[in-house]
Amino acid sequence: MARGKKIYEGKAKILFEGPEPGTIVQYFKDDATAFNAEKKDVIDGKGVLNNRLSEYFMTGLTQIGVPTHFLKRLNMREQLVRNCEIIPLEVIVRNFAAGSMSKRLGIEEGTQLPRPIVEYCYKDDSLGDPLVSEEHIAAFGWASQQDMDDILGLALRVNDYLSGVMYGVGIRLIDFKIEIGRVYEGDFQRLVVADEISPDSCRLWDIESGQKLDKDVFRRDLGSLTDAYAEVARRLGVLPKGTGPQKPTLVN
Ligand code: TMP
Repeated sequence: MARGKKIYEGKAKILFEGPEPGTIVQYFKDDATAFNAEKKDVIDGKGVLNNRLSEYFMTGLTQIGVPTHFLKRLNMREQLVRNCEIIPLEVIVRNFAAGSMSKRLGIEEGTQLPRPIVEYCYKDDSLGDPLVSEEHIAAFGWASQQDMDDILGLALRVNDYLSGVMYGVGIRLIDFKIEIGRVYEGDFQRLVVADEISPDSCRLWDIESGQKLDKDVFRRDLGSLTDAYAEVARRLGVLPKGTGPQKPTLVN
């Protein structure tokens, strides 16, 4: 498919004009960054895996009635999505303490939280995506109260869906980040899950061994990132079994 003009290049994806008005082509790069791009690398095959995994999660969400921007996968690295106005917030849902929350509050990584905790960060790389409260969001007009109610509802539905899907393949969903877009339909607007859902934006731990199967493998130099992502893809049936490194099968 002929791609349109480049609209935006981010750290992990490039956006192009889509073939029809209101559509965008999302191209998944192999670039990996962490700590606001202080650490960078190119990881062969990461973009292909994230394109497939994001397709899998977005399709599943659509199937259970959670609106997303996803339209269809075009090829190994590209997917067609609805053009939406991204709300400038990173919406984080945590089931177990880890990462910045563990650091900030001194809670050991892996500690189960009393309930899912939703956090918001203001999307601004030059500021390092700072944590903000609903007071900031309302005062600066980043989202209305109605938007915030809808965002919370979407975030918790995504959490239940992803937690269940992951549990089914022996993986614990520790936390994740989503972004929310506004789409306009005539006089109406609605909010949809946008951007991507992939091991770049989740923490995924093997339930039995605690092995990390997400971008912390890159952030913390824990081994091969594509092996970890391919393991997630294989368990979900997104990659055919028998491709890539195999987990030993225990027989008893
Ligand atoms: P954190 O513990 O570093 O705040 O990360 C929380 C979750 O958000 C984790 O699943 C990783 C994800 N995340 C992103 O998707 N993008 C980011 O820029 C950061 C910092 C975290």
